[in-house]
Amino acid sequence: MSIILKTPEQIEGMRVAGRLAAEVLEMIGQHVKKGVTTEELNRICHEHIVKVQAGYPATLNYGGQPYPMPLDDEGNPTVPFGEGGFTKSICTSVNDVVCHGIPNKKPLKNGDIFNLDVTVIKDGFHGDTSKMFVVGEATPQAKKLMQVTQESLYLAIDMVKPGARLGDIGYAIQKYVERQGYSVVREYCGHGIGEVFHEEPQVTHYGRPGTGVELQEGMTFTIEPMVNFGKRNVKLNKKDGWTVTTKDRSLSAQWEHTLLCTANGVEVLTKRQEESF
Ligand code: MF3
Ligand code: CO
Ligand code: CO
Repeated sequence: MSIILKTPEQIEGMRVAGRLAAEVLEMIGQHVKKGVTTEELNRICHEHIVKVQAGYPATLNYGGQPYPMPLDDEGNPTVPFGEGGFTKSICTSVNDVVCHGIPNKKPLKNGDIFNLDVTVIKDGFHGDTSKMFVVGEATPQAKKLMQVTQESLYLAIDMVKPGARLGDIGYAIQKYVERQGYSVVREYCGHGIGEVFHEEPQVTHYGRPGTGVELQEGMTFTIEPMVNFGKRNVKLNKKDGWTVTTKDRSLSAQWEHTLLCTANGVEVLTKRQEESF
C-alpha cells in the first residue's frame, strides 16, 4: 500500500467529515461535569453523529465486523463484547489512560482530565480529532501537561507544507515535550486518513531530523501526540484488549487533528471554533 494523494473531490469530502468531527467536540463540552459517566458522553456523541449529522462513528466495532452493524434497542452492538472490535462510538481516556479508553459507568470526579477522541464517517470520508477535557478544576501539573501536549501538536501543524519531512516533525514534537521533562509515547502514532480510517503514512511523534516521508500537496493525515507526565512506557489491558495506560500510572494527555497538506502549507480539517490557525 502507499500514500493516497486526495483529489479535489476527495478533499471536499474530507472537509465535511472533519467539520462534523470537530462539531462533536464542540457539542460535548457542555455535558462534561462531575458525576457524568463516560458511557453517557458516548451515548450523547453517538446520537449526535447518527441522528443529527447522519454520519457513523468509525470506532464502533472497529477491528471487528464492517460497519454499519445492527444495534440492539439500547444502541449497543449486537456482536458480543470481546468478539468484535471496539464497542463504543468514542474513546474516553481518563487520567493515566493513554488512549483507546472504553466509555464506562464510572462517574467522573472533580480534577479528572480526559481525552475524548471521535472519528466521524460521512459519505465515506473520515474526520478524526480529539481534545482534553477537565472535570471541575485540574491540578497545576495536569494543566501544564495538557497545555504542553497541545502546543506540541500546534508546533507540528505549523511545520506542515510540501517538502517537510515527517522525521523533522516528529523530532520537533519530541524535543519540545522532553524539554519540559515529559515523554512521548512511541507505540501509537498519527496516520494517513481518507476513505480508510488508518492509511499510510505512519506519523510518529518522535523522529530523526532529515528522515521520513516528504509531505506532498493533497496528503491528508493526523497528528496526535500522546504525552506522559512520567516515563514513556505503556501497557495494554489484556482483559478488554484496548485500554492503554501508562506503565508508571502517571497522567497522560493527547490532542489530535486531521490535516491537509496544501500547496503552500496546511489546512486543519478538524479546526474548532475556539481555535485560530
Ligand atoms: N481515533 C483513534 C485514532 O486517533 C483510533 C481509535 S481506534 C479504537 O486513530 F478502536 F480504539 F477506537
Ligand atoms: Co487518529
Ligand atoms: Co482519533
